[in-house]
Amino acid sequence: MKKEPRELKELIDKLERENRLSEDEFETLIRARTPELSAYLFEKARKVRERFYGKKVFIRGLIEFTNHCRNNCYYCGLRRENLGVERYRLSREEILERCSLGYSLGFRTFVLQGGEDPYFSDERLCEIVRGIKASFPDCAVTLSVGERDEESYRRLFEAGADRYLLRHETADEGHYGMLHPPTQSPAERKRCLRALKSIGYQVGCGFMVGSPYQTPRHLARDMVFVQELRPHMVGIGPFIPHHATPFAGEAAGSVELTLFMLALTRLTLPSVLLPATTALATLDPKGREKGLLSGANVVMPNLSPPAVRSKYLLYDNKASTGIESAEAVERLKEVISETGYTVVVDRGDFVPPTPDIEAGRAS
Ligand code: 5AD
Ligand code: SF4
Repeated sequence: MKKEPRELKELIDKLERENRLSEDEFETLIRARTPELSAYLFEKARKVRERFYGKKVFIRGLIEFTNHCRNNCYYCGLRRENLGVERYRLSREEILERCSLGYSLGFRTFVLQGGEDPYFSDERLCEIVRGIKASFPDCAVTLSVGERDEESYRRLFEAGADRYLLRHETADEGHYGMLHPPTQSPAERKRCLRALKSIGYQVGCGFMVGSPYQTPRHLARDMVFVQELRPHMVGIGPFIPHHATPFAGEAAGSVELTLFMLALTRLTLPSVLLPATTALATLDPKGREKGLLSGANVVMPNLSPPAVRSKYLLYDNKASTGIESAEAVERLKEVISETGYTVVVDRGDFVPPTPDIEAGRAS
């Protein structure tokens, strides 16, 4: 049933108040959104993020340490069947060197991201994590290395890893099957996320916007999934095609809908850590700033060695130079300060909601 603009705003007010909507309500908002409704939502998203994090923007140094992957996701340029990729792995020493550089640039979180690469056994990865924590005890280490068994997640946590990013990609089982070969299952992905959370990691899930075959119903399911998992972080970026994948001919997702989903996520999880993603900045030169103005509070510049950046292509034209590059953090700070926000030197840990802050009484 068609809703009046006033009723749609009331749904946004309800989400702000109760941090919860039904799947039908999320779907209604996504389908009926207009520029006016988005402006109303973005203003609320900014207000809520400022209640928890003020004007602060957290930076994370992203180190893409292996582009080998045993998986074959249909959307990703690093998929196993893409034989056109020159594969690489960074050594422990190379990773530590990038952390050193990152530390001197003001980074206090390092994100180690890679494909699912069996070479990085628990033993090898734990040694890397221990090395970083020993050299930079005031820094957080985030891992983003896909699905592993629970024991492995536990070992890595005991070695000092603080956070783990594992996007769920889509919460709808049928849609998951259209984006992945049958060897990958959404149930397994969700099992991993719950295991990570129970071990004690700060956990990030996330999804692509505008991935092939996605409908507003699927996005509403993603919101309900996020609402139930209550992760500490959520990574949301537009789908962008890669020329050497089965989705080469598909359209990219839209910046506008991505911003809408970021803002809905901010109202659902008021104190969530929400990055303005590289994919958003790739599609729109102002994507990062627009993300921050829609409720995002994290940016993740590329801290990989420059020589490997062009080999970590999840999608075509992926930004890794200019202010996507960690070396350009001073310019990034300037650009961000123009939005009224400020990059800080801080681990940027999750702030657990307290009744006082929830009610907007924080100083
Ligand atoms: N477009 C946008 N995002 C992508 N990812 C992988 N391939 C693409 C693509 N073509 C995202 C996935 C994955 C993360 C590391 O990058 O969501 O979880
Ligand atoms: Fe591998 Fe991740 Fe790409 Fe899937 S999205 S193919 S798991 S690197």
